[in-house]
Amino acid sequence: MVIFLNSQPLKAQPIGIFDSGVGGLTVAHAIKQILPGESLIYFGDTAHLPYGDKSAESIKQYSRKITEFLLERDAKVVLVACNSASASAFDTLKEEYSDRTILIDVIDPVVSYLATRNYSRIGVIGTKRTISSGTYEAKILKNTPGTSVVSLATPLLVPMIEEGFIFDDISNAIIRVYLSDPSLRGIEALILGCTHYPIIRNQISKIFNFSVDIVDSARIVAETLRQTLEQNNLLSTGKKVNDQFFISDYTTYFVKIARMFFEGEIDLRKADIWS
Ligand code: DGL
Repeated sequence: MVIFLNSQPLKAQPIGIFDSGVGGLTVAHAIKQILPGESLIYFGDTAHLPYGDKSAESIKQYSRKITEFLLERDAKVVLVACNSASASAFDTLKEEYSDRTILIDVIDPVVSYLATRNYSRIGVIGTKRTISSGTYEAKILKNTPGTSVVSLATPLLVPMIEEGFIFDDISNAIIRVYLSDPSLRGIEALILGCTHYPIIRNQISKIFNFSVDIVDSARIVAETLRQTLEQNNLLSTGKKVNDQFFISDYTTYFVKIARMFFEGEIDLRKADIWS
């Protein structure tokens, strides 16, 4: 259970983060850079990957269970480091868990960031679930009326990345086919509306000859987390404990990517939360 002190979680408690797989590691990595004193508990729901093809109801169910898992491990914040879950389950999580923890998603911070820029035409790529939800488009138009937003589902990118096809001919061909879509012509910025995509950020940028701003949520969300902790007087001040990584099914590639982001040995365990 979360330990409350004067109805507030304690500074030393860890940041809980979840995604369907390795994608949320891009956010976790940015958090380590901006907030090196914070301890992390990461959950990658590799047993249900990809979330982007699942129904909103299933994603809500997974998200609830993972939130419970992170709260049992005293997470002072639960960060939904997955766009598909942010689009489908974040409102439900807020309704059900706001009295027990602080919840942060990956879409709202990006939408707020865009309001500080002057883009007139923005592209969004993401999973089928994220794109069909229309969440980015609706929130951007509400926050920055008059912006033209074009959305494109790029469902092969997550399985491609999870299978380790990232800097090769296969990935280059898939990325090129998707991003040559005529709807993306004339965009000034492209939102990477899936936390897996920063892993292939350079290849994406190259397709546009580096002339389109690539909006990657990782740093923006880590900065939102920093501000939220500061406002709630929850920045860790004590001794940092080791980060913990949990996955619901073992995949070799998760280990490889996690080591790439978090250099050296990581504390990775399988958590059987679905049986
Ligand atoms: N990283 C998740 C997201 O941001 C991946 C979704 C998936 O598993 O399809 O949407």
